[in-house]
Amino acid sequence: MVESTHVVWHQHSVTRDAREKQHGHRGCVVWFTGLSGSGKSTVANLVDHQLHQRGVNTFLLDGDNVRHGLNASPEMLLAEHSEAFARRFGLGFSPEDREENIRRIGCVAELFASAGLVTLTAFVSPYRRDRDAVRKLVESRGRAGDFIEVFVDAPLELCEQRDPKGLYKKARAGELKGMTGIDDPYEPPLNPSLRLDAAANAADVLAAEVIEHLRKLGVLGRVVGPKTPGS
Ligand code: ADX
Repeated sequence: MVESTHVVWHQHSVTRDAREKQHGHRGCVVWFTGLSGSGKSTVANLVDHQLHQRGVNTFLLDGDNVRHGLNASPEMLLAEHSEAFARRFGLGFSPEDREENIRRIGCVAELFASAGLVTLTAFVSPYRRDRDAVRKLVESRGRAGDFIEVFVDAPLELCEQRDPKGLYKKARAGELKGMTGIDDPYEPPLNPSLRLDAAANAADVLAAEVIEHLRKLGVLGRVVGPKTPGS
């Protein structure tokens, strides 16, 4: 049964254009994707901070934080909900759960972009199909080019060496099943808007690269213009 036929889309009186005009820049989704430990969150955080300092209206949606709230695990939900509820709505790392994780985040990111924010997301988002579905949603509600895919490219060996949360070690020891890169696939973007070489560059260099890319795309509008001598 498709119940959504009884739900009607409302046109708001404050348009996206009006919001963007007020902000002096476009709304968009800057979608960072890459292996756990590749540096997505670190780079996205730096970009968020630097753009915010320069007067851009930004917001960062980050994997680990979102999985504490909107996309909490069944175990977390159990604290305040029934077992059936927790099982139905809680998310883990199975392919279906990851699909739903990215779908919900995609919807939220689209809303933030409609609010005229430069919306940064940092999720492994390992499956191409799920990322493409978010692109489709964001661009169908907004404009072509509103979904900017940034591939944080770091070899598995490096991510495994870093292993900030000890998850790769657990996966290798067989204590964690379905770890991306070990026994669950990571599908790199075929045609990302930007590829960051995260093995060869420090996070601040990569963040500067992202900001320059956004500026060139025209996303940052009058807020962050081209560099002039001395600026
Ligand atoms: S995604 O695959 O659904 O996009 P998401 O970005 O939300 O993943 O969460 C990834 C983070 O959860 C990783 O950085 C890591 O800390 C943790 N994690 C726990 N289990 C796994 C797993 N099986 N695969 C990948 N990451 C995991």
